Amino acid sequence: MKFIKFKNEKDASLFVANELIASIKTNPSIKLGLATGSTPIPLYQDIANDYAKNKTDWSHVSIFNLDEYIGLSENHEQSYKVFMYNHLFSKLNVNLKNTHFPEHGINYDELIKKNGGIDIQILGIGTNGHIGFNEPGSTLDSLTRVVDLTPETIQVNANKFFNGDITNVPKTALSMGIASILKAKKIYLLAFGKSKQYAISELKKAKAFNINFPASALALHPDVTIIYDEEAESDL
Ligand code: GLP
Repeated sequence: MKFIKFKNEKDASLFVANELIASIKTNPSIKLGLATGSTPIPLYQDIANDYAKNKTDWSHVSIFNLDEYIGLSENHEQSYKVFMYNHLFSKLNVNLKNTHFPEHGINYDELIKKNGGIDIQILGIGTNGHIGFNEPGSTLDSLTRVVDLTPETIQVNANKFFNGDITNVPKTALSMGIASILKAKKIYLLAFGKSKQYAISELKKAKAFNINFPASALALHPDVTIIYDEEAESDL
């Protein structure tokens, strides 16, 4: 794992946006794995700004999102489909037919494989080390499946996205698994702010897979870059 520290999330997000845009210019039909949560919002804003200015062509890009809540209607404002549409897809010339989310009845890992696999995967990280919705206890060989969210994740997401009301947060989700994520050719994990100090310090220590800290699986992948800011650095 390579670690790159930035002064703040603004600089970090712009760096990743420029990496993605350069990759699209090299490979216009690139397959991207994208994440939701608060972390990638400035990244998506930078990509939207680039499109407004430079018209980078997204019409042949395919996007596979990491996860989706179970039980929210498709047009619920907190569904990840709506999140991605609002923050990114609606701002680009992306072809919505090329955008994908895990769904019941679809073999998502097969779908990704048939499309040639994910070239670049963007990840955030939960305060407990989850990636996608692979909570502690997720196994290294896990593929896309239904997962239970931990009380910690439900509370964090309630505070960030559901006005603090845990009763409105779905308790289950469909998520790409750890094995699904590790199949991506290149991975960027983004972590900003004090709440991610524990996650960054654990990632720095990770040498092997630890089932209690799912992101440790990234230590087994040959091309992972951890992008973090000064606030996420700690002396832990
Ligand atoms: C959520 C998402 C993850 C995300 C993580 C961190 O529950 N399922 O994909 O990376 O938690 O969220 P945030 O970026 O808001 O800190």
